[in-house]
This record gives sequence, structure tokens and C-alpha cells, in this order.
Amino acid sequence: MLFVESNGAKIPAIGLGTWELRGKTCARLVEQAVRLGYRHIDTAQVYENEREVGDGLRASGVKRDEVFVTTKVWTTHFAPHDLERSTKESLNKLHLSEVDLLLLHWPNPRVPLKETLGGLAHVRKLGLARHIGVSNFTVALIEEAVAACPEPLVCNQVEFHPYLDQTKVRQACAAHDIAVVAYSPVAKGRIKNDRELARIGQAHGKTAAQVSLRWLVQQNVSAIPRTSRIERLSENIGIFDFELSEQEMRLISAMASPKGRLTDFGFAPKWD
Ligand SMILES: NC(=O)c1ccc[n+]([C@@H]2O[C@H](COP(=O)([O-])OP(=O)(O)OC[C@H]3O[C@@H](n4cnc5c(N)ncnc54)[C@H](OP(=O)(O)O)[C@@H]3O)[C@@H](O)[C@H]2O)c1
Repeated sequence: MLFVESNGAKIPAIGLGTWELRGKTCARLVEQAVRLGYRHIDTAQVYENEREVGDGLRASGVKRDEVFVTTKVWTTHFAPHDLERSTKESLNKLHLSEVDLLLLHWPNPRVPLKETLGGLAHVRKLGLARHIGVSNFTVALIEEAVAACPEPLVCNQVEFHPYLDQTKVRQACAAHDIAVVAYSPVAKGRIKNDRELARIGQAHGKTAAQVSLRWLVQQNVSAIPRTSRIERLSENIGIFDFELSEQEMRLISAMASPKGRLTDFGFAPKWD
């Protein structure tokens, strides 16, 4: 396993995304993933599966300190007091005394960012999170957050795959030693039908999804593919035994298009 390092954090380069995984399926997938070598699990309060993620982690039998666990605080809990209370709730559900990484899930313009970041830093000081970070932050918000946060931010989790150019966000993050963690790294499954990626993969004995994940990891980005199929867990972590050439990297980067974003960035979370 490779790691992405940032501001003192060491984030395993591949993690399991768990959005939409629920109940026993979620617990079983997390357990299997950890047994197969995954050392990074991504959940969130709003996924309503923290309890099952915790169940899966315990069932795997792997020691707590060997797995990097991320959860995210939902936007309705950004007032500092709510942030602390809801983090404690998350930890209760996960059956953990701390998470490795606690993120603000989306920006929320209704609560001053400085206040929320103060709350996040406080939660870290209390020992409830080893590291803190943000998600879905634009370049302007990254700059604002770095200036306002009393503790180092280690991560900005954003949508990233070959169809989306994230150069600007990546540069802003790099300038502050903030790691980029890629969500939707196989473009919500669309990658599997990509002929060009499949062609590149063939030369390495790999699938199109593995090429996409390798392309991210080779740029020092951590990726958190989600699957509900046990057989795909091995596929998605099987990317550490081959390397894309510079030319292949360039070809894949050239696939980005202005319409490549799959998440509606104008999506307005329910603030109240
Ligand atoms: N911070 C945020 O705002 C945010 C937003 C979105 C997601 N996330 C996180 O990022 C994780 C991943 O993003 P995502 O779930 O949007 O998209 P994703 O991981 O790019 O795609 C998941 C989809 O791709 C399919 N898939 C997975 N591996 C595959 C493979 N090797 N070959 C073919 N198809 C494959 C899965 O189907 P099967 O189940 O059938 O395998 C599923 O439908 C989430 O689960 C969540 O943890 C965070």
C-alpha cells in the first residue's frame, strides 16, 4: 500500500467508499475489504452507515490502529457545539474513541467558516479526531479555510477522475500541503465502458477501472472507490503492481472535459 502524506497525516492511497452501502451489505463489504488489505474506509454522518462500518471493522479482526477511518460532519451540524456533539455521536456509532480524519462534508455559507473551523480544531484537540480536513472546497474556500483554521488541514476530498480536470484545486492544496482524496474515482461506474482506458489497461493486463485508479494514485492522490460487489474489492485495490508511462498519464489527463463533473456542484444541501 502506498500513502499520501500531508501535514503530518499518512493517508492510504486506496480506500473503500461506502456511500449508499447500507445494513449487513455494508458491514460485510467493510469486513471483506479490510481482510483483503484495504487500510482506509470512508464514511459520513449523512450516509447513515457509521454503525455498520464499525461492525465491519470489528468483524475484520484487524487492529484499530492499522485502519485509517474517515467520517464527515454534515452541514447542519456546523455550529461548534453541534459539531462536537455530532462527532461524539459518530464515534459512538463507529464504536471508536477517535477517527483518523474528520471532514466538513460540504461548505455551508450559513455558518461562518471561521466558527466551524474553530469547532473542528477543538474536536481535534479533544482527541476525537487525529486529523481534520474539508470536502468539496473550491480554491477560494481552501485559501479562506487555511487562513482561518487554528490547526493544519490535511485533506480536501473532491470529485476526481479522468473526465474532470482538478488542476487548480490540486495546486491550491499542494501549496498548503493538503492531500487530495478523490471521490467518484471510477466516475460512478462510467469508466468501465471507456474504450481508451480499456485499451491502455490491456497493455498492462488491467481493467479500465484499475487504470483510472492508478492514474490518480500516480499523481499522489488517494482514491476511495465504492463497490457493492465483493469481487470488485480485489480489482480496485489491485493497482500497485503496474505503472502507467508518462505518455499514458498524459493521454488519460487529456480526457477531461468541461462537462466532466458528475456531482452537481450547485447542489444546495438543506441547511436547516
Ligand atoms: N465528499 C463527498 O461529497 C462525496 C461525494 C460522493 C462520494 N463520496 C465518497 O466517495 C466514494 C466513491 O464515490 P462514488 O460512490 O460516488 O463513485 P465511484 O466509486 O466512482 O463509483 C461507484 C460505482 O462504480 C461501480 N464500480 C466500482 N468499482 C468498479 C469496477 N472496478 N468496475 C466497474 N464498476 C465499478 C460501482 O458499482 P458496483 O457496486 O456494482 O460495483 C458503483 O456503481 C463514495 O462511496 C463516498 O464514500 C464523497
